[in-house]
Amino acid sequence: MTKRVAVFISGGGSNMVKLLDSMTGDHPARACVVLSNNPRAGGLALAEDRGVPTEIVRHQPFDGDRTAFEHAILGALAPHAPDLICLAGFMRKLTADFVDLWRGRMLNIHPSLLPKYKGLHTHERVLAAGDTEHGCTVHEVTPRLDDGPILGQARVPVLPQDTAASLAARVLRQEHLLYPQVLRRFAGGDHTPLYLKT
Ligand code: GRF
Repeated sequence: MTKRVAVFISGGGSNMVKLLDSMTGDHPARACVVLSNNPRAGGLALAEDRGVPTEIVRHQPFDGDRTAFEHAILGALAPHAPDLICLAGFMRKLTADFVDLWRGRMLNIHPSLLPKYKGLHTHERVLAAGDTEHGCTVHEVTPRLDDGPILGQARVPVLPQDTAASLAARVLRQEHLLYPQVLRRFAGGDHTPLYLKT
């Protein structure tokens, strides 16, 4: 049975585009909806260009009530009947209740080699630490932030002249390769980690 995938975004959606464009042919999944908390997210138009329905659930009206915000998300998702959720630059923390509801069915991409550098500003932190290697991780979402079983990683070198921007761009190119491959495996029932050779 083809899996129906909801992709959650907050911004430009470059990972979302790679996921959407990968789900063709014999891929075991298809995108059913792209959801954003940000009505100005650039990714919304890119999803519409691809014929994928979009939903906007703004978080501001809920004034910090995450449970009410998530109820609204569930309401918006319901008509699209997703089997899986892919977080792709979705910049809202989700409650343990929401995560538990989707346990084993929700993936996230994070721009670091987890378990290193959970949270924000990963590229700056890698440079500040003097690391020689960085990368990205796709993982199952569990209630703890940027935690959960690792489904895939890709590594990049940190070069002496790197800035946070140059490093972010190098990592993002790997995100675009990694996330579609991991989703294809995961949707097909393979939850073993994929380590991309770079
Ligand atoms: C990516 O670096 C992702 O790892 C992080 O947010 C960024 C989203 O970029 N969580 P985009 O919206 O997919 O272009």
